[in-house]
Amino acid sequence: MNFYINKKLLTKNVLEEFDSKKDNYGKSAFGKDKNIVIDYSSPNIAKPFHIGHLRTTLIGNALYNTYKYLGYNTIGINHLGDYGTQFGKMIEGYKRWHEEYKFENPIEDLTDIYVRINELCKEDESVLELCRENFKKLENKEEYEVKLWEKFKELSLKEFDKIYDLLDVKFDSLNGEAFYSDKIDEVIDILEKSGKLVESQGAKVVDLSDKSMPPCIICKSNGSSIYATRDLAAILYRAREYDFDKCLYVVAYEQNLHFRQIFEVAKLLGLDKKYTDGLEHVSYGMVHLKSGKMSTREGNVVKVEDLLDEAIQRAGKILEEKNPNIQNKEDIAKKVGIGAVIFNDLSNSRIKDEIFDWDTILNFQGETGPYIQYIYVRTKSVLENAENLPTLADVNIEDLLNEESIEIIKSIYNFEDVLKSVTDKNEPYLLSKYLIELAKKYSTFYNNYKILSGDKKQMNTRLYLTYMVNVVLRKGANLLGIKMPDKM
Ligand code: ARG
Repeated sequence: MNFYINKKLLTKNVLEEFDSKKDNYGKSAFGKDKNIVIDYSSPNIAKPFHIGHLRTTLIGNALYNTYKYLGYNTIGINHLGDYGTQFGKMIEGYKRWHEEYKFENPIEDLTDIYVRINELCKEDESVLELCRENFKKLENKEEYEVKLWEKFKELSLKEFDKIYDLLDVKFDSLNGEAFYSDKIDEVIDILEKSGKLVESQGAKVVDLSDKSMPPCIICKSNGSSIYATRDLAAILYRAREYDFDKCLYVVAYEQNLHFRQIFEVAKLLGLDKKYTDGLEHVSYGMVHLKSGKMSTREGNVVKVEDLLDEAIQRAGKILEEKNPNIQNKEDIAKKVGIGAVIFNDLSNSRIKDEIFDWDTILNFQGETGPYIQYIYVRTKSVLENAENLPTLADVNIEDLLNEESIEIIKSIYNFEDVLKSVTDKNEPYLLSKYLIELAKKYSTFYNNYKILSGDKKQMNTRLYLTYMVNVVLRKGANLLGIKMPDKM
């Protein structure tokens, strides 16, 4: 069967729909009364925020924004890795050596202390015993241990916040693993009653052999809870607190097995099927650095904050070359540099491994963040050069029926559907690809038609088309977490 679109009717619909919403074009109440929990970023206290954490932060943030724009009630949770036996070690190391450190780069110093104490534990079993006791004390909420733990958390969050500020990412909740430490007894209780919790080498586990998976450990032989137990407690809590329709976990594919296991065990918690069906691991691939080009200090460990700073600096240099007299250079460099990193991260299906190469991501002519910003800035300057913004009444539909314009109209028509597909598949790259296409289409149109000359009605019509592209490019980029510069 062949379909023909009635171009005129399509154009008329798009124009009217756009005119009724303008800056809110694409926004809807589609997800009304649906609750979406998104667990993302979730770095570990006293450990570096690595480039994998950057990916979950960016993917999670883009999903968060898009769900929200479609009217869902969205809850963003930074499930901090702030608990576990390693904190017993951290406390021991800190007690012993803290005077040797200045904590100007707190995470580096804490990591160093952690490496040292681990080495000592290997040599000396009695030190390991002390570490275990520290963790027990922390679990029992003894003052001194809790104080130190709070200090680690505070120092780490201060560092993480520098990154969140640069990216302008915010969370609704910072309830991390520690938050669930007093909520795991209930999980163990329910699992025990279900008859599925069995002893194995002193530990308590749920056997998952019928699902072809290794057993899920719930309690270690010394009685301590683990990562998985805290995640199960979090599922119970989130179901009750947020009544979620979906609970998404934006976490690297290395944790595929972990999530398959806990989603299976969650079925034993007596929750409504709605909740266990709503659990979804939104996994993503690794980041490979194109070697030799990254300013790394030790091997391949890239400090994310350094990487973002470098992006800003490099963008600044390019701007300096292209447009030396531009004003607000620093602000623009920040938007372009950070935007380039964000776009690169979100430009392919998330499960694919990503290649990080400065020359590619900052190429103003490539399929990049800066390219979208560049075309956006062009629409902006066209609109600024016009005497006034046209209204719908100034538009002559006949002038939009040429191939280049209709291509743009079709894209604009698709915007909301693209946003829906982003949330259907939890794939922000569908929006990235869409924005590149729209930017290219506008570029073709711009090269083939004079906008600010000739017949008044025709000029206004082309201006209105430019205006629609301007809004959709900005809105779409903002949903991905990218800010638009006014000039470039
Ligand atoms: N802190 C973990 C890590 O850095 C990620 C936590 C993900 N969220 C969760 N609910 N398990 O690997």
